[in-house]
Amino acid sequence: MDNSQSWAPLYQALKNHAEKKAANFHIPGHRQGRGLPEDLASLGGQALFELDLTEIPGLDDLHNPQGVIARAQELAARACGAEQSFFLVNGTTVGVHALLIAAGGRGEVLLPRNAHRSVLGGLILSGADPVYVLPEIISSFGISAGVLPGRIRAAMEANPGIRAVLMVRPNYYGIVDDLAGQALVAHAQGRPVLVDEAHGAHLRFHRDLPDDAMSCGADAAVQSIHKSGGSLTQSSLLHLSGSLVNADAVAGVLSLLQTTSPSYLLMASLDLARRQLALLGADLLERALSQASRTRGRLARIKGLKVLSKSDLPGFDLDLTRLVVNVSGLGLTGYQVGELLYRRYNVYIEMAEANNIVACLSIGTTNADCDALVKALEDIACREKGTVPVMLPEVPVNFKKRMKPREAWFAAAQRVSLIESRGRVSAETVAVYPPGIPVLCPGEEINPEVYDYLVLVNKYGLPCQGASDPSLKTIKVVIE
Ligand SMILES: Cc1ncc(COP(=O)(O)O)c(C=O)c1O
Repeated sequence: MDNSQSWAPLYQALKNHAEKKAANFHIPGHRQGRGLPEDLASLGGQALFELDLTEIPGLDDLHNPQGVIARAQELAARACGAEQSFFLVNGTTVGVHALLIAAGGRGEVLLPRNAHRSVLGGLILSGADPVYVLPEIISSFGISAGVLPGRIRAAMEANPGIRAVLMVRPNYYGIVDDLAGQALVAHAQGRPVLVDEAHGAHLRFHRDLPDDAMSCGADAAVQSIHKSGGSLTQSSLLHLSGSLVNADAVAGVLSLLQTTSPSYLLMASLDLARRQLALLGADLLERALSQASRTRGRLARIKGLKVLSKSDLPGFDLDLTRLVVNVSGLGLTGYQVGELLYRRYNVYIEMAEANNIVACLSIGTTNADCDALVKALEDIACREKGTVPVMLPEVPVNFKKRMKPREAWFAAAQRVSLIESRGRVSAETVAVYPPGIPVLCPGEEINPEVYDYLVLVNKYGLPCQGASDPSLKTIKVVIE
């Protein structure tokens, strides 16, 4: 018998982490159960497994809902201001894929250049042709904000064949753009607005948070309820309203893409999280917002830190439960601060990047978590004397598309050294955070401007996402 089989490395790592009792500022929003709906949290051990059932009589069928799943989806739609809602058991990712296939098809789809990689997945699955618009950049933090409606108007005029507009709102930093204005532009051309609202499941449930997508006139929105709404990881909702997106087509694609064995635990957690948000959301979010406001004030008093606030974002709004902290005044990178936080202080944040860290507060956050974060950053600011501010090269924006993402994905490809990649067509995405605007998407040419940028990224060792060789020594290109 192979002795190594007594080892369960993933399970053990999870157990070890749980024993650390860390302060958490990352997704999922229920924070190891503290923000879970009471009925779910109180199910321990055996009781939890009692809910792990399947399509037996009385429990309906996600792929043809007529009974309790249909009723639960109707309640979700009512709570979230939609005409119809779908339970998703493969996160917002599957919802974005389904919308792109159902509403974009093989046609042109307008989207922000910094869309999440689930959007690229949707483009590859559907064969849609992306028309990119650039988000605004907040230079004091080096991060991307949203897209101005004027840019959407200009892109739609230049590309009259656009079939759908896909927006990402809020973005990872909690920044929201003028979706109502964007929707007016798209609707004037009879085009649907699809919103990747992965980070906005909670917005609708507190008056001091920005408006949610369905309130702003979106035709479809997908929300990761697990990120900020208190359900279990992987559970999301897809909402539809109006007639610009065909609900039967969406249902058909979801049936194609989702498992035939959807987890009843995940679906029950969606049902209970919806109930909790509808009945108690305002109170729970009031607590999260006041914790965020106190923490924001305390962090702003620490020398060397700058906390993103609404005044940094003219023309945009901000979800104040997100704390985006520029740490470059400490002479440290966000990566270094992120690492110090967990190694030395047992504090885990959502994201670290060159100059910033991002901490998410949620309905599961405690005052003790907030204290731990503030004290750790105070201590870092006192003890660490860093030196080098990170200078990020500006991302070139003259991308040259030679193939659709789907064509590049399925084309024969080879790995070549960076220098050999000049003039070739990329088979992969390369994006540096911040601002997370890809310098390359599959099907685009590695032109001289892009090449020079990649050389700089490689020289400074900036971490990139999407590239199969993150060191960028080599890059995957299409064999033409
Ligand atoms: C902007 C954005 N969209 C979509 C997703 C995918 O969501 P999910 O993890 O629920 O599949 C994420 C995940 O982080 C995201 O940040």
